[in-house]
Amino acid sequence: MRIIKARDYNDMSKKAANMIAAQILLKPNSVLGLATGSTPIMTYKYLIKLFEDETISFSDVKTINLDEYIGLNKENANSYYFFMCNNFFNFINIKPENVHIPDGTAEDLEKVCSDYETMIQENNGIDLQILGIGNNGHIGFNEPDLKFEAVTHCINLDEETIKANSRFFENEEEVPKKAITMGVKTIMNARKIILLANGSGKAETIFKSLYGKIDPALPASILQLHPDVTFILDKEAAYLL
Ligand code: PGA
Repeated sequence: MRIIKARDYNDMSKKAANMIAAQILLKPNSVLGLATGSTPIMTYKYLIKLFEDETISFSDVKTINLDEYIGLNKENANSYYFFMCNNFFNFINIKPENVHIPDGTAEDLEKVCSDYETMIQENNGIDLQILGIGNNGHIGFNEPDLKFEAVTHCINLDEETIKANSRFFENEEEVPKKAITMGVKTIMNARKIILLANGSGKAETIFKSLYGKIDPALPASILQLHPDVTFILDKEAAYLL
C-alpha cells in the first residue's frame, strides 16, 4: 500500500490525473474504473487538459463506473450518467460504446447487476480503479454492513450517505434511497486501485481504513488486502497519519 500526501485538493487531483495518464500511456486500451462524487471532479478536469494538449487519448480506453442511483434516468442532472458526461465524457474522445454505467431505471435490476459482472469479465477486468470514500467508509456504494458483498448488487443507502449526498439535491427527500454498486470483490479484482480523499472530515475514516481492523462495518478497510493500492490524500485528510 502506498500513501501519497498532497499539498491540497488541487495537488491531489493533479497527482491522480498524472497517474491515470501514465496508465493510459502504458496501455492505451486500458479499462478504467471510475468514480463520481465531489472528490474526483478536479482529477477529471486535469485529465481533460491532458487530452486537450494531446498528451493522452481516450480513443481506445474503456470505462466502467462504480455505481448509479436506482430510479434516475440518464437525463436527470443527479444521475451518475449525467455527472460523468457533464464532468468528463463530453470533453474527451471516448467512444460512447466504451462507456459503462449501470442502468438504474431498468425493470430487471438483478439482470443489470449480473450483466455488469459479465461485461467486466468480458473486458478482462479493470486495470485501474479510482475510488472516493464516504464519510462512513463506503467504497462505491458498499455501505457499512455485517459482511462484504462480493459482486455488483442493489443496496439501500445509509442514512449518513443520503444526508451527505443531499447537498446535490433540492432536499433530502429527493435523494434516491437505493442504488446499484459494484461489489467489494469486483473492486478488489481491479489490478490497481487509487483512492482519493480530501478534507478533514475524511481524516478519521482514512486513518481507520489504513490502520484499523478489516471490517465490513468500514468497507474501505478491505483495501489493506489489495496488492497495488495507492491512497492520494490532501494534508487535511492525512492529518491523523
Ligand atoms: P464525495 O463522495 O467525493 O462527494 O465526498 C465520496 C463517496 O461517497 O465515495
